[in-house]
Amino acid sequence: MKPLIAILALAVLALGPVSLQAAGPAVPLDRVNVDVTNQASLQRGAQLFFNYCVGCHSAQYMRYSRVGDDLGLTENQLIQSMIFTTDEEGELVAPGSLITNAMTAAYGEEAFGIATPDLTLVARVRGQDWLYSFLRSFYLDESRPLGVNNAVFENVGMPHPLWELQGWQEKHVDREGNVRLQVVEAGMLSGPEYDRAIRDLVTFLSYLAEPMQAERQRIGMYVMLFLLVFLGFAYLLKKEYWKDVH
Ligand code: HEC
Repeated sequence: MKPLIAILALAVLALGPVSLQAAGPAVPLDRVNVDVTNQASLQRGAQLFFNYCVGCHSAQYMRYSRVGDDLGLTENQLIQSMIFTTDEEGELVAPGSLITNAMTAAYGEEAFGIATPDLTLVARVRGQDWLYSFLRSFYLDESRPLGVNNAVFENVGMPHPLWELQGWQEKHVDREGNVRLQVVEAGMLSGPEYDRAIRDLVTFLSYLAEPMQAERQRIGMYVMLFLLVFLGFAYLLKKEYWKDVH
């Protein structure tokens, strides 16, 4: 009995920090269920990322060509739809290049008060739900230098990169202190369409942070299947060994 109690005690200890973390940030995050095996979603997300984010953010631990291969794009498609950065001579960078840009840390600090962070690993640092909520939580705020704030990341230095798509929101706080964001100026997309676009973008960021995860999940399925089949054989073997022992 004693070992059992010890194991239970250890389990409770191990769970402790997890339940503490669940207290979470002030604004509750919306959950997003991304599927990194969904190539169409990844492609749409990549399109958004290269059109709206790479001007300021790099993803310098990843190469364009790897993204092209993993997302099932031909080299031509990759060059036409995703490579917009140029080298010193003004030529488009080669598909084998790392995803960098011309934004220096010094320029970032001058323009936004802070150097723009690299986004290769951001999905692992912040988590998918945080990114999904953050990118949907910009609101108008006269008191900020760029006239925009974020309910998930208060006083963020980043302007709303997707205002054309989402439009502009205003923040309302009700008497219980719940924050509600309301679109006051419509963008090109409806609310649900914008949410879907952000899900695609987060799917891509999640892939970017861990490009092997789709492959890992696929291999994991085979491993589980193998273990199941092996369990059957192990059981038969056990029956064979013990059949004369009573
Ligand atoms: C005009 C420049 C600019 C553009 C365009 C831009 N960002 Fe940013 N972004 C910033 C700056 C500056 C920060 C740092 C903000 C801070 O820490 O206060 C930032 C911060 C972030 C962060 C928080 C990183 C962290 O962990 O602190 C995320 C996530 C992010 N950006 C995602 C995006 C995505 C996704 C896009 C494209 C849809 C995008 N950004 C487009 C300038 C930009």
